[in-house]
Amino acid sequence: MVDEPSSVLHGGSRRSAPSWSLREPALVASVLGADYARLGEEVASLTDAGVDRIQWDVMDWRFVPNMTFGPDVVGVCRQYSHLPFEAHLMVQDPGPMLARFASAGCETIIVHAETCPHLLRTLSTIRDLGVQAGVAVNPSTPIDFVRHVLDQLDQIVIMTVNPGFGGQRYIAAMEEKVSEVRALVDRSGRPVRVEVDGGISTDTALAAWYAGAEFLVAGSAVLSHPGGKRTAVDELRRALTRPVPAP
Ligand code: DX5
Repeated sequence: MVDEPSSVLHGGSRRSAPSWSLREPALVASVLGADYARLGEEVASLTDAGVDRIQWDVMDWRFVPNMTFGPDVVGVCRQYSHLPFEAHLMVQDPGPMLARFASAGCETIIVHAETCPHLLRTLSTIRDLGVQAGVAVNPSTPIDFVRHVLDQLDQIVIMTVNPGFGGQRYIAAMEEKVSEVRALVDRSGRPVRVEVDGGISTDTALAAWYAGAEFLVAGSAVLSHPGGKRTAVDELRRALTRPVPAP
């Protein structure tokens, strides 16, 4: 159910918030930059801070030059939050690990289009596990990679950084791609969520939402905020109600 978009003051004239928006975008906390020695507590405090979802950035040092957690780590952290978990598999060969992340308690599994030559089959496999299927595309990957699989998709993730690390600069040029994907999804009539991942902060969240994203992934903007997670989340939500900058 899409709520009536709230109107946003724009230089005196009224401009409605995006028609696709829920009341406001969902904030997805990436635990990439969390304290791994206290991961369960970090997941619990992100939950208490008011985020909507938790994202696990899974890296294998092959697809990206970094390595993080596996399904067992995700599974033991399941008990620390009631929020949906999404596994973002930045790995060269996601197929053999899909069932393990599903049984670890992930509600959504996101694979990269660049690592799945048989993407439609991979997405079907994820759904056959009773889990929602997502696909992520790197900054240089065109949206043509997802054009023909919308029927098997629950979520599209537009990377606004090169995957592998948190704390990188938001690539504003990706907003054009976000809008393209939004238009593609709207034309299809399919209930596919559009997510942006990378460099989301109080400076970039509004533009990403207005470009067409309804899920915003934030890692360092929340985990590294000097005022703590709750303050960071509150500031991000306030940033989404600011007047829209002049075009
Ligand atoms: C990159 C990761 C990051 C992370 C968010 O591979 O996917 O984008 O989730 O990190 P920040 O919010 O610090 O860019």
